[in-house]
Amino acid sequence: MKVKVFPSLLAADFSKIESEIKKVQDAGVDAIHLDVMDNKYVPNTSFPIKQIKSFYKKISLPIDIHLMIEKPEEVIEQYLQFNPSFLSFHVEACSEPKKLIQKIKEKGCKVGLAVNAGIPVSSILPLIDLIDFVLVMTVNAGFGGQKFMKENIKKIRELNKIKKEKKLFFEIEVDGGINTENVSQLIDAGASMIVSGTTIFKSDSVSNTIKKLRG
Ligand code: DX5
Ligand code: ZN
Repeated sequence: MKVKVFPSLLAADFSKIESEIKKVQDAGVDAIHLDVMDNKYVPNTSFPIKQIKSFYKKISLPIDIHLMIEKPEEVIEQYLQFNPSFLSFHVEACSEPKKLIQKIKEKGCKVGLAVNAGIPVSSILPLIDLIDFVLVMTVNAGFGGQKFMKENIKKIRELNKIKKEKKLFFEIEVDGGINTENVSQLIDAGASMIVSGTTIFKSDSVSNTIKKLRG
């Protein structure tokens, strides 16, 4: 499977967000990852609707929205208005995940379930045949620039095994503390959607870094 690289805008310089978007798009990334935080599910806030509205038209690539919020079902329409190509949420934050999955799919958007560090893969298993991708977090959701937690790699292997056994087609996205050194372990384990914030935005040569992140 082709390895895709999604820069997380959380690590971009917000004072020049338009040129930051252009920089990564020109360097050949596959989609733009947008982290939404509500200061409830995670102890941080990011990308309020108003802010996304101010820049999303500058994004010419597919948008990947990662909702780290409580009760995503109550606000989903507000995020679907940006026509994301990928949208994931955390199952333990949602009361009716099956309904929400259906709603997102109806919009023609690929739907993912995010597995936070500390949450087992078993939490999403009852829904696994309904989704397009699983987002495996390799840090505790909430902040960019954290240290990669390698103990989460085994979840990718576990998911890959389940995928083969059940003959499913979901992809595996990974997010948190990913750099040019640790990425190959993730790809070897079965990940094909690589999210990276700090490594990409703080790099001197974005296009070289993106090449390296493809493994
Ligand atoms: C963390 C977010 C990530 C974060 C990744 O809660 O979901 O997308 O921005 O940033 P880095 O690559 O800096 O860990
Ligand atoms: Zn994210």
